[in-house]
Amino acid sequence: MTVDQRIVVLGSGVVGLSAALALAQKGYRVHVLARDLPEDTYSQGFSSPWAGANWTPFMSREEGPRQAKWEEITFKKWQQLVPSGLAMVLKDTRRFAQTEQGLLGHWYKNVTPNYRPLPASECPPGAVGVTYDTLSVHAAQYCMYLAREAQKLGVTFERKSVLSIDEAFEGDAALVVNATGLGAKSIAGVEDPDVEPVRGQTVLVKSSCKRCTMDSSDYTTPAYIIPRPGGEVICGGTYMTGNWDLSPSPSTATRILEQCLRLDRSISSDGTLAGIEVVRHNVGLRPGRKGGARLEAEKITLPLVRGRGDKAQLALGLGKSGAGKGEPREVTVVHAYGFLGAGYQQSWGAALEVLELVEREVGAPKGWASKAKL
Ligand SMILES: Cc1cc2nc3c(=O)[nH]c(=O)nc-3n(C[C@H](O)[C@H](O)[C@H](O)COP(=O)(O)OP(=O)(O)OC[C@H]3O[C@@H](n4cnc5c(N)ncnc54)[C@H](O)[C@@H]3O)c2cc1C
Ligand SMILES: *[C@@H]1O[C@H](CO)[C@@H](O)[C@H](O)[C@H]1NC(C)=O
Repeated sequence: MTVDQRIVVLGSGVVGLSAALALAQKGYRVHVLARDLPEDTYSQGFSSPWAGANWTPFMSREEGPRQAKWEEITFKKWQQLVPSGLAMVLKDTRRFAQTEQGLLGHWYKNVTPNYRPLPASECPPGAVGVTYDTLSVHAAQYCMYLAREAQKLGVTFERKSVLSIDEAFEGDAALVVNATGLGAKSIAGVEDPDVEPVRGQTVLVKSSCKRCTMDSSDYTTPAYIIPRPGGEVICGGTYMTGNWDLSPSPSTATRILEQCLRLDRSISSDGTLAGIEVVRHNVGLRPGRKGGARLEAEKITLPLVRGRGDKAQLALGLGKSGAGKGEPREVTVVHAYGFLGAGYQQSWGAALEVLELVEREVGAPKGWASKAKL
């Protein structure tokens, strides 16, 4: 890596922003390229504005050792943000039908304060449950905060819809971080067929409720209440794999509010449906991936042949983008996408792993020792 090169982060959701910030804190020059930017807080073109966003593990340590690590790191990071008001402490209660599996081997009992499995008397017959203190952030405000911190360290932002990964390498990029979430069907020259949306419909409600309740006893009609900083709660939800529909369904909204009201009457001023103060109906697409999140470095050869869905192919002078641009070159992409419903709670741990991969690939940034803050 030469002094005047920079790392290009493709994507400006919570994952791209966290990676950009971690890289800048280490002393790298970073440029963010994205179709949706953090201030686009109503864009359904990306997932990040629509999250709860709280910290609730879904995998045991055996199922997802890396995920558990990312989550533990992020929880510690968020704990430091509580005094500033960016993160908020809430009491979390989760119930699962007739299976110990939902308790995930209690792996985070030493991460979240006041962790306590629920006795049978506090659960419906046959169900199990757990309670602990967790944290949430205001999704849009948290992303803006990350962007501001990154900008203070010299990170630049550019709005651009990239059709192929080689566009991100134009100019002085030493390496590209692919943090494009669901991306687009046509993105990046190499399409990952395992990427899929998981549609989440929610209702944003004005309420000072500080309890988070999640009922996963029926996966077809999940219900959860996630309070966030600023006196609002997010009532969910749906979990519809492969569904790209961006409009809220009125009947689903009613089902969600009815179920949430049963979970916690305090979201309504008078305990009835009519007493719930609805702010907005929302739909967001979680960036899913069969087989789980992809966080790894990959070497590809540019220029790519466009329209080939399988593998990075050498253009041999035929590809439009490559014509007349000289020798084929090998470049490195660090992938960081497919975080599904856990992009916030895994964001900081994932960003530190992106940083490790970048350092391994391109070496330490020049002068990093003086700027290192991690
Ligand atoms: C209803 C709902 C509730 C959720 N609740 C939680 C929760 O409680 N806790 C939690 O941890 N997570 C939660 N999530 C999940 C979380 O929102 C996502 O995992 C996270 O936002 C993913 O971030 P990302 O940066 O990977 O992707 P995204 O936020 O989707 O960002 C992708 C970025 O890439 C850009 N991009 C894509 N294609 C291109 C292109 N071709 N050219 C240029 N730029 C491109 C986009 O414009 C955007 O900037 C929830 C999600 C939903 C929908
Ligand atoms: C970049 O990420 C997207 C998912 O958003 C994926 O479809 C694509 O294959 C990745 N790009 C490359 C070059 O692998």
